[in-house]
Amino acid sequence: MPENELLKRLEEIEEQLHFYRQLGVDFLVRSEEKKGDEEKSSSSAGLIKLEPAIENQTSLEAEWEKLIKRIKSCRFCPLFQGRTQAVPGEGSYRARLMFVGEAPGRDEDLQGRPFVGRAGQLLTKIIAAMGFSRQEVYIGNVIKCRPPENRTPRPDEIKACSPYLLRQIELLNPRVIVTLGKVATDFFLESDKSMSDLRGHFGQFRGIPVMPTFHPSYLIRNEGNRGIKRLVWEDMKQVLKLLETS
Ligand code: URA
Repeated sequence: MPENELLKRLEEIEEQLHFYRQLGVDFLVRSEEKKGDEEKSSSSAGLIKLEPAIENQTSLEAEWEKLIKRIKSCRFCPLFQGRTQAVPGEGSYRARLMFVGEAPGRDEDLQGRPFVGRAGQLLTKIIAAMGFSRQEVYIGNVIKCRPPENRTPRPDEIKACSPYLLRQIELLNPRVIVTLGKVATDFFLESDKSMSDLRGHFGQFRGIPVMPTFHPSYLIRNEGNRGIKRLVWEDMKQVLKLLETS
């Protein structure tokens, strides 16, 4: 097989293995006809153990780089056609606190960084009020490419993009996730309830506490309403308490 075809095939296999891991599969059954004699004598009865996600700091960074590269060249949904650049997310790969928003807006699409527009400036202030810098937490989005006119991402787009966020969570293994707005909250906590009902109460996603709160854009749209800001701060205080006690 020519080298470029082989490389392409290897990439496809890697992608597939990644997908299996997302589903929670931690072993594969080796097909009978492909077994060599020496393999037949192995005691693993045809099961290939998948490598644990991360072994050390170097491989952690390498995994993040691989993921970021994939996101930047992603064509899983039509949103890639309208993007200037994809916005993978940013922050510490060791962050205990993760913020997840909806999707990049215009500024984020231009800069390739999450939450750098007006809503982002407000989020940065909230993070600072909690005693952190942006570099100490991780900031990401459900969708990595800007939807046209900043419309709400469609379910098929969220589905296509979901392996990236799931992998980010797997690599980060944060102590707590803060979801900003309904799209991010729905990604983690399926519920018919409104944000007003959901905010302020921890949910769980794969064992990780999830605190839903209002999106910073909602705070901007309701600038005069100090009550909403206070509610967000109440939510963040709960998050801080959880971080302090764990
Ligand atoms: N709104 C979001 O949800 N995410 C961003 O990155 C910016 C604005």
